[in-house]
Amino acid sequence: MGADPDPGGRLPLRLAQRPEQLRASVEDNLRSLGVDRLAVVNLRRLDTGPGLRPEGDQVVDLDDQLAAMTALRDEGKIGAIGLSSVTLDGLRRALPAGVVCVQNAYSLVSRDDEDMLRLCAAEGIAWVPFFPLGGAVPGLPKATDEPVVHAVAESLGATPSQVGLAWLLHHAPNALLIPGTANTAHLEANIAVSEIALDAETLATLDGVESRSNEVPIG
Ligand SMILES: NC(=O)c1ccc[n+]([C@@H]2O[C@H](COP(=O)([O-])OP(=O)(O)OC[C@H]3O[C@@H](n4cnc5c(N)ncnc54)[C@H](OP(=O)(O)O)[C@@H]3O)[C@@H](O)[C@H]2O)c1
Repeated sequence: MGADPDPGGRLPLRLAQRPEQLRASVEDNLRSLGVDRLAVVNLRRLDTGPGLRPEGDQVVDLDDQLAAMTALRDEGKIGAIGLSSVTLDGLRRALPAGVVCVQNAYSLVSRDDEDMLRLCAAEGIAWVPFFPLGGAVPGLPKATDEPVVHAVAESLGATPSQVGLAWLLHHAPNALLIPGTANTAHLEANIAVSEIALDAETLATLDGVESRSNEVPIG
């Protein structure tokens, strides 16, 4: 929650950050899905990572949003709260509300959030990165552009995308992968990533890939 579809708009999404808009978005989703409860809802902040930045009445304090989210959870309309595009400070502030997952842009080539990842692991919070291979929008680095990733892929008989995803699973024990794909072969390859073992030397090699910032504006 935090943005609603805007078909025909300049961008396909329009910000909906205000507490009453979060509630309306949840209720709209309940209606359209025909369910009584959404198991987990990510509050999509706009504090960090690639994407839009809020202006005007869309600049909303995190505490006000958490109050709306916890009220929805108390009412049983949502089961649990996640956060997306949040800063480390924001996550720390939100911990007392109970956060089950964090969804920031993160990949082998964009590792701005190592401290947050450690905090999530310590707090038992799932790390569910979007753009897990990087490069989903112009200007962002791609894991599959790295020569080292190709070399490791060749040595393992895997694809470069599989290596980028396998690195995430090895790097973060609390990582859950959500790579998007419209290609069946890619889907099968992504499922098979759980069977790829990276030894310590290979992991160290991949850890040596340079991390670059995720701060790419969209819009
Ligand atoms: N919280 C947020 O702000 C935010 C933002 C963006 C996305 N998300 C979420 O993140 C998830 C994934 O998002 P996404 O699909 O936009 O981005 P993505 O996972 O970063 O990128 C998908 C791209 O990777 C390619 N790909 C996937 N698997 C591959 C493989 N094995 N080999 C080669 N290419 C591969 C896909 O191409 P093919 O179709 O050709 O495989 C597609 O171009 C979704 O659940 C989405 O809702 C959240």
